Amino acid sequence: MRSKQGLFVTFEGGEGTGKSTQIRLLADRLRRKGVDILVTREPGGSPGAEAVRHVLLSGAAEQFGTRMEAVLFAAARNDHVEEIIRPALASGAVVLCDRFLDSTRVYQGVTGNLEPSFIQNLERVAINGVMPDCTIILDLPAAEGLRRAKSRAQAEAQTAEPDRFEKEELDTHEKRREAFLDIADQEPLRCRVVDASGAPEMIAEKIFSIVEPLLPIHSSRVKETGSA
Ligand code: TMP
Repeated sequence: MRSKQGLFVTFEGGEGTGKSTQIRLLADRLRRKGVDILVTREPGGSPGAEAVRHVLLSGAAEQFGTRMEAVLFAAARNDHVEEIIRPALASGAVVLCDRFLDSTRVYQGVTGNLEPSFIQNLERVAINGVMPDCTIILDLPAAEGLRRAKSRAQAEAQTAEPDRFEKEELDTHEKRREAFLDIADQEPLRCRVVDASGAPEMIAEKIFSIVEPLLPIHSSRVKETGSA
């Protein structure tokens, strides 16, 4: 199904765990090595998926229920996979994606209480065979992550209002942290947990040591989509 030449790395974790920062640091380092990099994010990453992103993160779909939101995340993911990720991998790029299928398993599946078979069926359709080769799970106590996410929003002069998912209770965020760690336990070959509490440069070093041995033979072209 997938003519695999590139490398697909996803970054997962709760709010404020530093995914975007770490993706940027890794992309910069790989670019300096001449690696062909695509940086992208979910929900979003393709024009169609970016349109759905706004509907999801504004909370406009919340009134229609968690199943509806899960289907919208899946629709966005499928567009992103087929329009952006699969072609990039086929061209031999290293794709760095800020959130992917594990976020749906955790946010809609575990804390959204959707039944596992529904989540599995959506996942199969959404990714259509494009599974991450490596998933970096950035791990941080939920309270610390939320504090960081809030101060980042203020520093960026964004609205102080948290998005649809950030505004949920602290214990929901802690459940998500546990759910990401459970996935890592279940899929140790794909997932690597990285302690996100230290200095960004130290965390970046750890991530580089995980990704570097996986790198395919590459060319030197850098692309970006979204703002991950
Ligand atoms: P972010 O851009 O700050 O990571 O925001 C994305 C939000 O969307 C975050 O709160 C997690 C949530 N989300 C889901 O609930 N399910 C998903 O499948 C994805 C990709 C994100």
